[in-house]
Amino acid sequence: MKTTYVPISHEPKRFWSALSSRSFKMRKPRVNRMVLAMCLGSFVMVIFYFQSNLKPATQGGDQARGLGKSGRSPLQTLYDTDPMELSPLQVMHQGRRELLEEACRSYTRKRRVLIPEDLKHVIVDDQHGLLYCYVPKVACTNWKRVLMVLTGGAGPDRHEPLQIPAHEAHVPGRLRTLSEYSTAEINQRLRGYLKFLFVREPFERLVSAYRNKFTRSYNTAFHKRYGTKIVRRERPDARPEALERGDDVSFGEFVRYLVDPATQREEPFNEHWERVHSLCHPCLIHYDVVGKYETLEEDATYVLKLAGADGEVRFPASGKNTRTTGELAASYFKDISPVYQRKLYNLYRMDFLLFNYTMPDYLRVH
Ligand SMILES: *[C@@H]1O[C@H](CO)[C@@H](O)[C@H](O)[C@H]1NC(C)=O
Repeated sequence: MKTTYVPISHEPKRFWSALSSRSFKMRKPRVNRMVLAMCLGSFVMVIFYFQSNLKPATQGGDQARGLGKSGRSPLQTLYDTDPMELSPLQVMHQGRRELLEEACRSYTRKRRVLIPEDLKHVIVDDQHGLLYCYVPKVACTNWKRVLMVLTGGAGPDRHEPLQIPAHEAHVPGRLRTLSEYSTAEINQRLRGYLKFLFVREPFERLVSAYRNKFTRSYNTAFHKRYGTKIVRRERPDARPEALERGDDVSFGEFVRYLVDPATQREEPFNEHWERVHSLCHPCLIHYDVVGKYETLEEDATYVLKLAGADGEVRFPASGKNTRTTGELAASYFKDISPVYQRKLYNLYRMDFLLFNYTMPDYLRVH
C-alpha cells in the first residue's frame, strides 16, 4: 500500500504571504518558529489520502462510503475481483490505470499538494460513491445529466438523462463538486469513492472546442470574451468589425493564441481547451477508471455497472463518429506550420503521454 501525503489549506497563498511579511521581521527566530508552528497547527490541515489498488479503505460506520444496492461500494466491486478471473474489459482498464501511473512517475517531477481549488471539476455522487472529473468536449454534458438523475438533482420526475436540456446540465449548484466539502469529507471521498474521468485524443478535443466556440454564430459570449482578444493579438491588420465582434477567428489564429506564453500568464486557459492534466490532476488524484471518448459507450456502461446504477439509468447514445473526428482534426492541421504544430504538441504533450495517445500521423514534426 502506498501512502500519499496531501496537505490541504484553504487560501494557501494569502496564508504564506501574511506569515512571511509580518512575523518574520518583527520577532526573534525562536518565537518565529513557535508562531509558525501554531499557525500550521491551526490553519493547515494535513490529510492522509491513502491510495490503494488492492484494498479501498472502508471503515465501519463511515457514512461516506457510497454503498450500492449490493452493499458493496463501487470501489470494492472494482478491486475485489480475483486477479486470475479478470475479464478482458477489466484487464484493459487495469492497463490504462497502470500506464497512467507509470507516465506520472516518468514525466512529473514534483508532487504538488492538492488544494480545494483543484477539485472544482470533480463532481460528487454520495448516493453511489462516485467522483467524476468532467472534461468539456468529452461527453461531459451527458455525464452531468446522468449524475443529475442519479443524485436527484434533475428533479423528482426526471429519470431519463435526455429529458434534461443541455444548458440545464451546466447550471451551477445542481451537482456538488468536491471542492465544496470540508477537508475531512474530501479525504474520506477520495479514499472511499470510485474516481473516474473521460478523456479524448487531445487534438480532436481541441478542434471540437474550436469549432463549437468560434465557428457557431450563436456563441457570442465566447466571441466577445476570447475572439476579440485573439483577433487583436494575432491579426495585424484586423478590420474594426472583426475587432469588435471577434466572430471569425481562424484555427491558425487560435493555435497562435494558445502557444503564446502571454496567454497563460494573463489567466488560465478556458476549460474547453485547458488540458485534462490541469483540470483533473490525474497524477495527484488516483483515478480508478479512465474512460475514453473513443470507447464511450462501453466505458460508460462499465462505470454505471460498477456503481450498481445500470438498472437506474442508461448512458445516452451519442451521434459521435470517431473516424470522422480524426479526419476532421487532420484537415484543420493542414494549414498549421510545422513549427506551430510542434509548439502545440508540446503544450498538450502531457495529455498525450498520460492517456496513451500517440502523436497523430498528420503532423509534420517528425
Ligand atoms: C496504448 O496504445 C496502444 C496503441 O494504440 C495499444 O496497443 C495499447 O494496448 C495501449 N495500452 C494501454 C495500456 O491502454
